[in-house]
Amino acid sequence: MPELSNRPERPRVLSGMRPTGKLHLGNYMGALANWVKLQNDPAAQYECYFFIADWHALTTDYADPAQITQNIKDVLFDYLAAGLDPVKSVLFLQSRVPQHAELFLALGMISPLGWLERVPSYKEMQENLTTRDLTTFGFLGYPVLMAADILLYQPHFVPVGQDQQAHVELTRELARRFNQFYRLEGREVLPEPKSLLTPSPKLPGTDGRKMSKSYGNTILLSDLEPVVRQKLKTMVTDPARQRRTDPGDPDKCPVGDLHKVFSTAETMAKVCEGCRTAGIGCIECKGWAADGLLRVLGPIQERRAAITESAAIEILEEGSRRAAQRAEQTMVEVREAMKMLLSTVRSRAM
Ligand code: TRP
Ligand code: SF4
Repeated sequence: MPELSNRPERPRVLSGMRPTGKLHLGNYMGALANWVKLQNDPAAQYECYFFIADWHALTTDYADPAQITQNIKDVLFDYLAAGLDPVKSVLFLQSRVPQHAELFLALGMISPLGWLERVPSYKEMQENLTTRDLTTFGFLGYPVLMAADILLYQPHFVPVGQDQQAHVELTRELARRFNQFYRLEGREVLPEPKSLLTPSPKLPGTDGRKMSKSYGNTILLSDLEPVVRQKLKTMVTDPARQRRTDPGDPDKCPVGDLHKVFSTAETMAKVCEGCRTAGIGCIECKGWAADGLLRVLGPIQERRAAITESAAIEILEEGSRRAAQRAEQTMVEVREAMKMLLSTVRSRAM
C-alpha cells in the first residue's frame, strides 16, 4: 500500500448502512457487533468511521422519501444503543458530507458501464423490487457512490458482510483505475482498501428463513422483553415435533439455531438432550432461547434509554463535521491529481 503523507499511524476503518428503519438482531450479529469490537480493539487502535448512507436510500426510494428522516433517527439510535461511541468513532450522515457527491461524480467519469451492469445485486434487485422502476442512472450508479463513500476516507479496512463483498471488490477496481489515470507527484491518491469479512452466524427469523426486514420475520434491537418472548412463541420449530411426545432435532430447528448463537453450553446441552428425547416441550425451549437473546438485548436497551433525540442528533452533526474535514483532505489530493485546481499551491482548507 502506498504511503500517504497524511496517513497517520492508526489504521482506518470505514463502514455504513442504508437507513432502512429499526435494526434487527441480524444486523447486529452480521455487522454492528463487529464494528463495536473494532472500535474497542485496544491493540489495533483503529480510527473508525461509521455512517448512515441516506443518499443510498434514494437509489430505491426516490419516489417516496417520506420515511427516510425517521429511518435515519432509528438507525442512529440503534448505532448508539449497540455501543458505537462518538468519543471513539466518527459517526456521520452521508448527505452532510457533500464530498461524497463530488467524488461520486469524479469516479462516475471513469466507471465503465459494463462493470456496473455486472454487479450481482444490480439485476437481482431489479428483479425483486418489481414495484419500483429501477432503470435509473442512480440505481446503476449505486456501487460508484459506495466506492466514493469508502475511498473518500482512504481506509485500510471495510468491515462488511458477504452481501457487500462484490461492492468492495468493485471499489478496489475503481481505485486502481483512478490511480492509473491520475497521480499526485507520482504517488497514488486512493489506496485500495481491504474488506474485512464479518463472520456472521446463521441467524434465522421467526419463520425459519434468514432474518430480514423484507421477510417481516425480525427481532428488533428495540423489542422489549414481552415482545421478544411473544415473537419466539410463534417461531417455527422442527416440523418432526408435531406432538409434545414426538422427538425432534435442534439441528433442524430454527430455535435450535438461535440457541447455538445466544445460549450457554449448559443450556445447549439441555436443549439437545431434551429435544431429542422429547423430554422438554418447545414452549420451555423457546423460553430459554428468549433468555439468551435478552442477555444480549439488555445492555443495548439500557444504553438506548439513556439517549435523547437531541443529543443523538448533535452527535451525528458533530461527527459529520469531523468526517467532512477528513474527506476534504482526500478531495484536495483528488482535485489536484485530476488537474481540477487552478492553483498549484495546495489549499489545505483545514
Ligand atoms: N451498501 C451498503 C448496504 O446496503 C451500505 C453502504 C453504502 C456501505 N456505502 C457503504 C457499506 C460504504 C460499507 C461502505 O448495507
Ligand atoms: Fe426446536 Fe427446541 Fe422444539 Fe427442539 S425443543 S424442536 S430445538 S424448539
